[in-house]
Amino acid sequence: MTDHRTRDVNAIDDRVFPRGARRGSECGVLKIGGVRATELVEQFGSPLYVVDEDATRATAREIRDALRGEAQRVGTDATVYYASKAFLSVQTAQWMAEEGLAIDVASGGELMVALAAGVDPAKIGFHGNNKSESEIARAVEAGVGTIIIDSEIEVARIAAATAAAGKRQRVRLRVNSGVHASTHDYLATAHEDQKFGMPLTDAPALVREIVSHEGLDFVGLHCHIGSQIFATEGFRESARRLLGVYVELAEIAGRQIPELNLGGGFGIAYTPEQAAEAPNVADIARQLADIVAEASTEAGIAIPHLAFEPGRAVVGQSGVTLYTVGTTKRVDLTGTGEAAPVDRGYTERLYISVDGGMSDNARPALYGSDYHVRIANRQSEAAPALVRVVGKHCESGDIVVYRDELPADVQPGDTLAVAVTGAYCWSLSSNYNFVPRPAVVAVRGGEGRVIVRGQTEADLLAQSIVA
Ligand code: LLP
Repeated sequence: MTDHRTRDVNAIDDRVFPRGARRGSECGVLKIGGVRATELVEQFGSPLYVVDEDATRATAREIRDALRGEAQRVGTDATVYYASKAFLSVQTAQWMAEEGLAIDVASGGELMVALAAGVDPAKIGFHGNNKSESEIARAVEAGVGTIIIDSEIEVARIAAATAAAGKRQRVRLRVNSGVHASTHDYLATAHEDQKFGMPLTDAPALVREIVSHEGLDFVGLHCHIGSQIFATEGFRESARRLLGVYVELAEIAGRQIPELNLGGGFGIAYTPEQAAEAPNVADIARQLADIVAEASTEAGIAIPHLAFEPGRAVVGQSGVTLYTVGTTKRVDLTGTGEAAPVDRGYTERLYISVDGGMSDNARPALYGSDYHVRIANRQSEAAPALVRVVGKHCESGDIVVYRDELPADVQPGDTLAVAVTGAYCWSLSSNYNFVPRPAVVAVRGGEGRVIVRGQTEADLLAQSIVA
């Protein structure tokens, strides 16, 4: 039996916690953005989403600089859109715009927030496989930079909106490259049998139709192969297939196709164990630029202007969720079966119930994702225990951290910090069991401030019509 026990169960690993997060010198309280986790919970409540503003901004800049710098190295340039579905609030959109990122929105609601944030409409890309006519009209009227066409029906819809508004609209066509990204099935988006985009083989006919409309300015193809991708091979194949049709599309359009959007999907580490395999942005950027340069040479065309749409990689690691422990219980793993189940050498698992769960983090239940947890209000010399952090909802799949290790003296009232919850946690949150959504607090320079108000039970009750 292999013993995989972790030795330092107090360590704050900077590969998963926000940069600069560390334990303070007295009592070892976790500080994020210079603010003690204990103060955050006292001031703003628990559970609480905490976003480190400087870390978010720095990551956004690094990703933008890496992708643009590498694109420039091969003789082109790149636009980096922040995929706002990962986490969107008015202030986050402002941070992204200030750091020089464009914004990708995927619904009228996301568009509304980006516009309310004062984002330059020309720097917004509008996605969606079922944009309503009114959403399209709003986007065209607002002057969004690009609308991504996802189906044939949309060509006429967008053309009608441009005619009504008396405007010309830049559009991209989303295609399926047929590449199977190696990720969870629900996160893979460019194989043929799913709802997004059009088959690449249909691109010539669709582009012919697009360019027949005065109001539509076709700028290039778009392909997002999926999310949480660790290897660049899928991007290579996808770029090669897309650029392979650019000569034909240029003939149809009567001019060069200026852009290529390769989507987002850059994977990140959720646990220290994943950190060794997770790609770093500089490497991805270098490889992507080389891939596009090679594929353009192969296709016999000039390298187009590139666009990317990372979401998770921009905000994932800058977010932490703080919870309060309510109950704990020990489960003997050896059971009565013939082969005694053991986990990392442990024969007992400590279940720790916290005051949130699948309503504030649906990802373990949806994708089987695992997370990393530490006690935030203190450190402890107690021996390590194998733990599973679970929520307060009425489902056994209500798991926040499937497997980790914590000091065995973890107890009711302790604050837990779960790392890498900056992406797709608040945005996928629900009110299951009438649990109100937690607030989002941004920390910076030793201070915390609410950027998204938390809900109260009264907010939830107010939605019910009382006869
Ligand atoms: N561009 C397009 C067209 C997308 O559909 C997505 C994600 C992105 C960019 C950004 O992907 P990212 O860089 O964040 O991986 N709820 C799932 C992820 C769904 C992603 C949907 N589209 C999760 O929690 O893992």
